[in-house]
Amino acid sequence: MNGARVLITGASSGIGRALAVRMAQPGTALGLVARRRERLEELREELAGRDARVYLYDADVRDREAMQRVAEEFISAAGGVSVAIANAGVSYPDDLRRGDAEQAVELMATNLLGAINTLLPVIPHMIEARSGHLVAVGSVAGFRGLPGKGAYCASKSALKTLMDSYRPTLRPYGIRVTTICPGFVESELTAGNRFPMPFILSAERAAGLIVNALAKHRRTYTFPWQMRLLVPLIKAVPDRLLAPIVQRN
Ligand SMILES: NC(=O)c1ccc[n+]([C@@H]2O[C@H](COP(=O)([O-])OP(=O)(O)OC[C@H]3O[C@@H](n4cnc5c(N)ncnc54)[C@H](OP(=O)(O)O)[C@@H]3O)[C@@H](O)[C@H]2O)c1
Repeated sequence: MNGARVLITGASSGIGRALAVRMAQPGTALGLVARRRERLEELREELAGRDARVYLYDADVRDREAMQRVAEEFISAAGGVSVAIANAGVSYPDDLRRGDAEQAVELMATNLLGAINTLLPVIPHMIEARSGHLVAVGSVAGFRGLPGKGAYCASKSALKTLMDSYRPTLRPYGIRVTTICPGFVESELTAGNRFPMPFILSAERAAGLIVNALAKHRRTYTFPWQMRLLVPLIKAVPDRLLAPIVQRN
């Protein structure tokens, strides 16, 4: 990672924060994006002394123009961008009784459109450089529509499909495309879950696995390995068997 210029969204907590800590190597430039500026400031303090350049952007990934500015400012400050990681995300259970689309729309705006707002502005620079790595953090939940999590599953499924399309499109320009599909990871997103989370990993362990997968140029990387083995089962199990073991609305 030495010399890499890495833009990471959702760097104020969880997986994104752990990725920033893991990637803050000497000579690296990090562009860290989230809405909570104070969290980003704390992270920058933690990274002081790592000999990495750290640039902070308090921006909302749902804001297309703001994310365009973030990309331009980071590329100008860091002298380019070699890796862009669309990690920012939210997870809400479906609320299908209220007849109100607001929360589902906000989720899509963050998880899917936010990733598009993050990745699209850097692509022309990567094409010009004829190198780069686009990364999206999807989820094991993107492999199957799970009961009570329709919007979340759909956002992650669409994100993976988007990346699957970008990969062959961008390969001729030397740009790599990776979708990361985590199982359960300890973070603010999972802290309130009251159901069993098998094979849960710390955010630090998750970040280590993700960085290794990126170094190996994985196209889609599902972890931990137990979840990877379970994906065919998750896809195949009938709804009536799935419902009782997955949180219901
Ligand atoms: N934890 C898991 O088990 C798990 C499993 C599969 C996939 N994932 C995915 O992993 C990614 C990271 O999640 P996490 O588990 O690390 O959760 P987390 O601790 O809640 O972190 C989410 C990050 O996204 C940022 N964010 C949310 N909405 C944003 C917005 N509109 N604009 C900018 N930043 C925004 C948050 O920062 P601010 O609030 O400061 O903006 C925060 O830094 C998500 O895409 C999630 O879906 C997580």
